[in-house]
Amino acid sequence: MPKNKLQRFAELRTFQNVHEFLFDERDHNFKLKGKWSNGYFKDEKPIVLELGCGKGEYSIGLAEKYPNKNFIGIDIKGARIWRGSKTAQEKNLNNVAFLRTQIEYIEKCFAKDEISEIWITFPDPQPNKEKKRLTHLIFLNRYKNVLKPNGIIHLKTDSAELFEFTLETLEENKLTKIYSSADLYSESDFGDNWAEATELKTHYEKLFTAKGKKITYLKFKL
Ligand SMILES: C[S@@+](CC[C@H](N)C(=O)[O-])C[C@H]1O[C@@H](n2cnc3c(N)ncnc32)[C@H](O)[C@@H]1O
Repeated sequence: MPKNKLQRFAELRTFQNVHEFLFDERDHNFKLKGKWSNGYFKDEKPIVLELGCGKGEYSIGLAEKYPNKNFIGIDIKGARIWRGSKTAQEKNLNNVAFLRTQIEYIEKCFAKDEISEIWITFPDPQPNKEKKRLTHLIFLNRYKNVLKPNGIIHLKTDSAELFEFTLETLEENKLTKIYSSADLYSESDFGDNWAEATELKTHYEKLFTAKGKKITYLKFKL
């Protein structure tokens, strides 16, 4: 590993706004499970997750826009979390934190009803591994165990295949679709759901839209 990366990994462990829950801890629950409000944020604001947050630009953007909510960006890549954490510190944002873990461990990290909303932003579409897709029923059932009743899930992706797969999963399991668009930026219906989905772009979304790729969006409940 390059020296710079090693230094960043060591530094990451000293950052107050970064938490880790890694493979060797999987037999236990994370110490903040059920305690994120009182034990970390020290308030009762609703908690919103971004799954696969990368360098955290979207979580940070949402945290700036919505000071009345708390945000947690989750990703397994330490170097990316390092960047997000640094930016949040530079901006003095106390309503955003980062969790370095596998999304597969979400129920080990959060208690029932602890989460109000989930954003899944540009996840790997996993073309050959359906069960690894972050909107596979296996994952939706995990989210159900941490989301409040009526908690919202948003999916933004450039993958038409993942978008269609998720729509089918919702239909097959009689889950509630609130809004969907197969081409978000070509819509002519500028309702509240559209506005919510377009007010901020993630890092990958900026790259994909610059290349003229269609962005799909799906908002649903479990
Ligand atoms: C394509 S990037 C998208 C980053 C960001 N959401 C954006 O839109 O700019 C996908 C991110 O998801 C993370 N990721 C993918 N699968 C994961 C998993 N099972 N657990 C944790 N992180 C995961 C990757 O490390 C990567 O940073």
